[in-house]
Amino acid sequence: MKITVIGTGYVGLVSGVCLSEMGHDVTCIDTNPKVVSSLKKGNVTFYEPGIEDLILKNIKQQKLSFTTSYKKGTQNTKVFFICVGTPSLKNGSCDTSFINDVSQKLSRHLTDKSIVYVKSTVPIGTNELVSKIIKKNIKSNNKFYVASNPEFLKEGDAINDFMNPDRIIIGTEDDYVIEISKKIYKPLIIKKKNIIFLKTRSAELSKYASNAFLATKISFMNELSMLADEYKISINDVKHAMSFDTRIGKHFLNAGLGFGGSCFPKDLHSLEYVFKQKKINSPLISATIEVNNNQRKRFLQKAYALYEHKELKKKKLLVWGLTFKPNTDDVRESQSIKLIKNLSKKYNHLYLYDPKGIPNAKKDLKGLTNITYLNTQYEFISKCDALILCTEWNEFVNFDIEKVAKLKDRIILDGRNVLDEALLNKSGFRYISLAN
Ligand code: UDX
Repeated sequence: MKITVIGTGYVGLVSGVCLSEMGHDVTCIDTNPKVVSSLKKGNVTFYEPGIEDLILKNIKQQKLSFTTSYKKGTQNTKVFFICVGTPSLKNGSCDTSFINDVSQKLSRHLTDKSIVYVKSTVPIGTNELVSKIIKKNIKSNNKFYVASNPEFLKEGDAINDFMNPDRIIIGTEDDYVIEISKKIYKPLIIKKKNIIFLKTRSAELSKYASNAFLATKISFMNELSMLADEYKISINDVKHAMSFDTRIGKHFLNAGLGFGGSCFPKDLHSLEYVFKQKKINSPLISATIEVNNNQRKRFLQKAYALYEHKELKKKKLLVWGLTFKPNTDDVRESQSIKLIKNLSKKYNHLYLYDPKGIPNAKKDLKGLTNITYLNTQYEFISKCDALILCTEWNEFVNFDIEKVAKLKDRIILDGRNVLDEALLNKSGFRYISLAN
């Protein structure tokens, strides 16, 4: 099937590449010429394991192409996926101006019986708005359909999430859209009976509901970790015990520095805004956000308490992890970046390392004068007094203990509760976590 994807950010590019891998003939439109010309060479502006090889493979097989032109990109196509960004506005609401803009541009190129799927995360009612914009701008009386198809992929495992989805959600009440959706996703549906059709608004809300629920699970564990810390109980033990209950499950129960990234914080704020707008009290959503912020502040207090106040200005910290989670180069809403901005005010110097996140971190931490980016996780380790772990990359969890023993004060502050306390204590380290 011929498919056009609009927007080559995280969701758009992964969707375009995976749809071509599934056998469709995909054209991706992005208005940024620089992005398009690098994508044509298989170069991606962000880090996602496996994506570049898949792009090159599908370009070679002529199943995937990129263009800046709506005219070229929409030729002979009747299936469109809108995948542009929906960032947060200052008041927490979701900015849908890119969606509106794309709907307008696209409407001029739609032929009879076109389907426009909205894949971006959008507030309730956006699909209806897209429909209205298209209706106003479409040529002649061409029939068209708008359907919601939220995407649930996680950064760092995005290809696998797209190709092996737990569920495919389609918001539509139209039989024709149901039929075409089944054809598009046929290779993924064979494996599992996992395509779900529901009303458009239900589909829109289901995306927010899923993200907010996962974030709430994390905040619940983080809140509990305060009590566990007080009583010297390992929160990981509690998690382990809870995870055997199939009603609870084992995922998203890791207590630590809290969640970041481009989705959870944005979606929670957007949901909170909508509740406010409708004058409905939403203590749970607000508490999820508050617990997440508190967790970072609690960690910061532990980092300040490592030394006497007077000593702090002399001490040098090694910080491992800048990205909001492992296997990505994304530092958006990263707890680590927020911490570093505070830590740099009190500590003498910070030495920062991340396997992929340094280029993006440099943009966010511009202006800080007492930080140095390292080439390896152990570079200058003997100059550092203590180590702070902010992101649980594999190489940080499985570090070389002999090299880390060169830390002057042999102190490790673990922001993800992932290190082996007993082993570290035995090896002469002072180990501090949020509750391990
Ligand atoms: C999330 C959703 O998982 C995905 O379905 C949606 O489409 C987009 O938002 P993503 O933001 O890529 O994906 O990352 P995710 O793996 O969900 O992690 C989000 C944040 O939660 C990270 O900062 C991570 O460190 C944190 N987290 C996750 C925890 O603190 N504890 C956990 O147990 C799990």
